[in-house]
Amino acid sequence: MICKLIFATIAVYLCFIPHNVEAKRVSNHEWDILIFTQQWPVTVCKELEKHHTKKCNMPTKRDSWSIHGIWPTKLGTIGPGFCNRTWLFDPEQVRPIEQELIQVWTNIDADSQLYTLWAHEWSKHGTCAAVLDSLNSELKYFSKGLDWLTKYSMTDILEESNIVPSNTQGYRVLDIHNAIKNKLGVNPAIECGNEGGINMIDEIRICFDKNLVLHNCDGIRASKIIGHQVVATNCDVSKDVLYPEYGYKSSLYVQLYKLVSFIKWLTL
Ligand SMILES: *[C@@H]1O[C@H](CO)[C@@H](O)[C@H](O)[C@H]1NC(C)=O
Repeated sequence: MICKLIFATIAVYLCFIPHNVEAKRVSNHEWDILIFTQQWPVTVCKELEKHHTKKCNMPTKRDSWSIHGIWPTKLGTIGPGFCNRTWLFDPEQVRPIEQELIQVWTNIDADSQLYTLWAHEWSKHGTCAAVLDSLNSELKYFSKGLDWLTKYSMTDILEESNIVPSNTQGYRVLDIHNAIKNKLGVNPAIECGNEGGINMIDEIRICFDKNLVLHNCDGIRASKIIGHQVVATNCDVSKDVLYPEYGYKSSLYVQLYKLVSFIKWLTL
């Protein structure tokens, strides 16, 4: 009987304590670094189609990476998020830069409202970034995204290493990582989507400290080791990554890509 009671007490203890710890961590709005995430619209559109979006709103400038967001992040975890639920996104605050935002901080999901992405990024991430004087308003937060995209556009950084969109030629994750590392001197994080078994580049993240100085992304969630380097990625590193061209549409390309990969495999 006593034994059972002790077991029950331990069981209850084990069940509830971790939840308490979890709750504490979630309500804590502290963070270590900012992740600046750029996304590749072609892959984002493919991912949206899987979730039944009928139409994609692509950035007007071809081959341009688009901003997803600036995310305050505690190392080893995701978030915090929604740090001030009463501070809602107000389109009037970003009116002076709205046209630029439409171009490069594009809401690719055309089934949603124009402000959906910005309102989400602001509520979830911007309100947490706002503890910094340099990011304590909607205008500052969104302007910083524009500024960083101009300085650190992945279109340009990858192109300098001859990594350009292609529907037939894939790239090694390590080569993409090195292109960024060589240019910026810090480790990025590379995210893939999956399309019919093919790794497609989806997002590239670079990190900043609280002084808005470039910082390694080491320690953010999702790190794998390739060779002797730490490459933060969710991509399947046993395969090449496709960086699909604008206009990438059907499974025809997927078939072609698979065929080319197969022939390469046969002949190498
Ligand atoms: C939350 O946002 C509101 C609206 O901007 C502001 O007045 C308030 O001071 C903020 N609260 C905190 C704790 O920062």
